[in-house]
Amino acid sequence: MSEHSSSSPEAEAPSAAESGSQVFQPERYIEKVSLITEEVLDDEIRPEQLLVSHHRDYHPADVQARRFMSRLLDSTQDEDLVRSRMREIRELGHRVSERIGKIVKKDTETVSKTLFGLKRKEYFFRYRKHPHSAEEIERTLSKLKGRALMKLVDVRQGDRLNLRVLLTGGTGFVGQEIMWQAAHDPDVVEMVVLIRPKTIRDRKSGEVLEVLSPERRGQDLLQRLWLDSEMASKFRFIAGDIEEPRFGISDEDFDELKTTLTHVIHCAASVAFDDPYDVSFKANVAGTLNALELSSTLQEHEGSPFVAHLSIETSYIHGRQSRNLAREDQVVFPRNYYNNYYELTKAMASLETEQYMLERDLRVIQLCPAIVIGESRAGNNRGDTKVVNAPVNVFGRAHEAISHKRGNVFDRTRAAALARMACIFPGDPSAEINLIPVDRVVEGILAALKRPESVGERVHLATDNRVTSEKIRDIVKEELGVDVRLADPTTHRNVTLPVLSKLLSGLKQERLANALEKLGNIFGGYSEWGQPIHEVGNDVRFLNLDDRRPNSEHCFRMLCRHNRFVQRFGQVRDLDEISRREKIWWDLMMELEAETGGPVGAIDPEAFRQAVRERLDVENFVRLDA
Ligand SMILES: NC(=O)c1ccc[n+]([C@@H]2O[C@H](COP(=O)([O-])OP(=O)(O)OC[C@H]3O[C@@H](n4cnc5c(N)ncnc54)[C@H](OP(=O)(O)O)[C@@H]3O)[C@@H](O)[C@H]2O)c1
Repeated sequence: MSEHSSSSPEAEAPSAAESGSQVFQPERYIEKVSLITEEVLDDEIRPEQLLVSHHRDYHPADVQARRFMSRLLDSTQDEDLVRSRMREIRELGHRVSERIGKIVKKDTETVSKTLFGLKRKEYFFRYRKHPHSAEEIERTLSKLKGRALMKLVDVRQGDRLNLRVLLTGGTGFVGQEIMWQAAHDPDVVEMVVLIRPKTIRDRKSGEVLEVLSPERRGQDLLQRLWLDSEMASKFRFIAGDIEEPRFGISDEDFDELKTTLTHVIHCAASVAFDDPYDVSFKANVAGTLNALELSSTLQEHEGSPFVAHLSIETSYIHGRQSRNLAREDQVVFPRNYYNNYYELTKAMASLETEQYMLERDLRVIQLCPAIVIGESRAGNNRGDTKVVNAPVNVFGRAHEAISHKRGNVFDRTRAAALARMACIFPGDPSAEINLIPVDRVVEGILAALKRPESVGERVHLATDNRVTSEKIRDIVKEELGVDVRLADPTTHRNVTLPVLSKLLSGLKQERLANALEKLGNIFGGYSEWGQPIHEVGNDVRFLNLDDRRPNSEHCFRMLCRHNRFVQRFGQVRDLDEISRREKIWWDLMMELEAETGGPVGAIDPEAFRQAVRERLDVENFVRLDA
């Protein structure tokens, strides 16, 4: 990494070993700087000040201005023009305030703040700088890459690499794909999966029904991954929690791992966009610190075969970086802040990872997926309902409510009205969304295990063919028959959503009201204008992945098709049943692929639906031609 991020956590801050799962305040990473004097201000930085939501909609004039800008963007599709208009309007506001100030004998700042909600920004945030020069970093990286290569040569036996990997997050969406691909990879001879126990509760009463042990959860996973006994024998499961120092792994287990592990893949995290700061911090930063400390101990152990630590991050660590390209070798505090604490704490975790590399010589690779969706050829996602799946499933269910009209005219009209309300989504048509299928992401993760040249690098596992909100809306219409209306985000947030929520609550539809509110608040940020453009290239340069990245449009079509037929828009929840269905679905998709000689995502939507209905009893999910 030639330039590398110039950021770092405050040097004297405690290490993971001292911190356990302590929550650090943002000052550890971020400083507030005066725009006037360029001095670092000694103010407290509250986590909420670092989010987009803290800096908008505080004044009716601001709301109006943003609405106007959204409309202008809608008609011109020109973000630069909109930005320059915004600047002109702000300047006009300041000039008018100056005149009024002279008349009413008040200072300009007070007038512009009261009348127009305009504040001259007096400060900005930036990440703290680390003390290492570019030359030093270059030297460190070349040393670490060289050592990783030597370690990899040491473990090779014949034409096999003999990799033994500790994986966290194996029960999650990305983790399951890592297990599946590792099972099929002859270079990976052992995978130790760290799992915490899972408490099953009654959905209504909350009563504890069962506690599943890590071993039992692991065995269930193997069943669902369709692995034969030889492949399954690569895996073993150990109990642990990433929020505990050294993950709470017993001394006995750890002694053994010190002499066998070649890699740690730290993939576990809390991927919730509405968690409070403390919760996100504990899972994403304290969890990362525990992982880094564990890997450092492995690396420092005499005679250890340890090669490298892989940190699974997100390309959204760059937040709302709307002007500049979000570079792979830098984390810059985003001009337009973060969408949520998930992004913020993942950025903090990335800085901690870099710190371990620069201060402790830990051999790390940072892998940063964009928005991960089901796998590219069939859309299979092993029951994931997060992120993009959530709105697609809500729209799909709403559409079904309209199509399966039951009851009298009043009931049917009401159902149709509710469904139409559910199909409004805040978004600017031109906002670009970075979707990447899970198989490509994991191809990158497994490649990193074997490529010492990727040590010290941050790699965006993202796409260069982004889709717009408008395209997504069109695909949803073609694939699911749902008419989603893209609403101006500012009006939606401030007017439509509160009115809708009240209306729905009045109609005793609190669940729908909550779902819509959650959708708008949590995912709306990703379809507003000013989305970051994530640089790509390290995936090809360092991981040797194909430079033809998956076709996002096809992948999103497969997500819609899969969620409609396999997941029934999130209504099929039983993971064993999902696994059964996905196996049938996969075979069917491969058949269609072979027949058409191209990707299934390229098949015309109507022809696709017909082919599925001819071969599949979609209700019971069994092959008609079997
Ligand atoms: N999904 C995306 O769109 C996306 C995009 C970019 C980056 N990523 C990154 O990819 C990684 C995996 O994401 P995902 O989508 O697979 O998430 P996920 O489906 O929510 O899975 C999260 C995993 O982390 C585990 N976990 C959470 N807290 C834990 C703890 N305290 N101790 C042990 N395990 C814990 C969960 O275990 P349980 O089963 O016990 O809960 C689960 O296995 C994350 O680092 C995420 O930031 C994801």
